Amino acid sequence: MGFNIAIDGPAGAGKSTIARMIAAKKGYIYVDTGAMYRAMALYLIRENVSPEQIDEKCQGADITIGYENGEQVVYLNGENVNAYIRTEEVGRMASVSSPNPRVRKKLTQLQQKLAAEADVVMDGRDIGTCVLPDAQVKVYLTADSHERALRRYKELTAKGESCDLETIEKDIIERDRQDMTREISPLKQAADAVLIDSSHMTVEEVADAIITLCGGCQWK
Ligand code: DC
Repeated sequence: MGFNIAIDGPAGAGKSTIARMIAAKKGYIYVDTGAMYRAMALYLIRENVSPEQIDEKCQGADITIGYENGEQVVYLNGENVNAYIRTEEVGRMASVSSPNPRVRKKLTQLQQKLAAEADVVMDGRDIGTCVLPDAQVKVYLTADSHERALRRYKELTAKGESCDLETIEKDIIERDRQDMTREISPLKQAADAVLIDSSHMTVEEVADAIITLCGGCQWK
């Protein structure tokens, strides 16, 4: 097993920015598990799969990851789909398909294989609780919903997209509810995870706090 850092938390808490930063600082591989669920969702959209057919059809999606210029690339049946997985439509389908047990089993196996072969910083919803229960460092990263909505609002307006802060916050609260109340692998803090609330912290402060946790480990 490589050295594994597991970062879980709700949407918009800053997991991917921070995980990427830590991976670069420590020379580890960053594994964005949300991107894998999104690639599966893209497949299901393209195949016109109804929610009732997810169980059967998900087996047709071969999802793998690779790295190009230091960035994670997700391949869906051999095609680089990074450019297609960040849309609202794919996000919506991902929240419908990610609770499916077969989808979770397939992607969990892939994630565990990656973590067995290399030192990784992996982020998602169930990494510390289900995917890597023996990770050396586990963090539950959160921030209050208003702060998370504000970050998303600034991101979108910086891109020139028009949006409404109140709607964004409502969406975030609903996404949290779905992730936390689903039957399989719900989002929750692992008993041995360290809670970090990033509401009033900079990304550097959060990354440093996690790197300090790694330093406390005896063998790396
Ligand atoms: O973090 P994100 O928005 O890219 O995640 C996309 C979807 O996948 C979201 O509905 C949560 C789900 N997800 C999950 O169920 N388990 C993970 N380990 C990562 C993401």
